[in-house]
Amino acid sequence: MSEWIRRLYRKHILGIREYKYTNIYPTAEIGRGCVIGSYSEIGDKVKVGFGCKVGAYVFIPKGITIGNEVFIGPGVTMTNDYYPKATGGWQLRETIIKDGASVGAGATIRCGVTIGKNAGIGAGSVVLNDIPDGEVWVGNPARKIESKWKYNMELEREAAG
Ligand SMILES: CC(C)(COP(=O)(O)OP(=O)(O)OC[C@H]1O[C@@H](n2cnc3c(N)ncnc32)[C@H](O)[C@@H]1OP(=O)(O)O)[C@@H](O)C(=O)NCCC(=O)NCCS
Repeated sequence: MSEWIRRLYRKHILGIREYKYTNIYPTAEIGRGCVIGSYSEIGDKVKVGFGCKVGAYVFIPKGITIGNEVFIGPGVTMTNDYYPKATGGWQLRETIIKDGASVGAGATIRCGVTIGKNAGIGAGSVVLNDIPDGEVWVGNPARKIESKWKYNMELEREAAG
C-alpha cells in the first residue's frame, strides 16, 4: 500500500489528524482520533492508543507502547537502546506510557521505563526510572514533585465522571 493511501486511511477511516512531514512507519499502529504534529516519527511496530496528542518533532522509535489519551509534548525524544553504538548489533528495551499520561515538551525518556497512568512529566525532564500512576516528575534526572498539575488533572477526571 502506498504512503498516500495509508495517509487517506488514517485520516478518513481512523479520524487521525496528521500534520505535514510526519514519518509514520507502515507497521506502527495508531488509534482513532489521534493528532500527530509535523516532523514527528512513529517507528516500526510502535503502538499508540486512541485519542492521543503527539506534538511536532517527537521521536518514538520501535519498542514503545503508548496507551489511550496520552499527551506527548513537542520535541519529546524516546529511546530504545540502552548502550547505543554505530556498529554491531543493538538490544531493544521496551518502554510503556500508560493511559492518560502527559509528557512535557522536550522531555527525554530513557528506554526500559514505564510511565504510569495519568502521570505527568515536566518540560525538559530526563526520565530514568519508572513513574508511578498519577505522580508528577520533573528535572534531570526526573524526581517526584507535588504539582498543581496533578490536582488539575484529578479535578478534570472527576468532572468527566
Ligand atoms: C511540571 C509542571 C506542570 C509543574 O507545574 P506546577 O505544578 O505549577 O509547579 P511549579 O511551576 O510551581 O514548580 C514546582 C517546583 O518544580 C520545579 N519544576 C517545575 N517544572 C519543572 C521542570 N519542567 N523541570 C525542572 N523543574 C521543574 C520548579 O522549579 C519548582 O521547584 P521549587 O519548588 O524548588 O521552586 C510544569 O512546570 C511543566 O513543566 N509543564 C509542562 C509544560 C509543557 O511541556 N507543555 C507542553 C504543551 S506545549
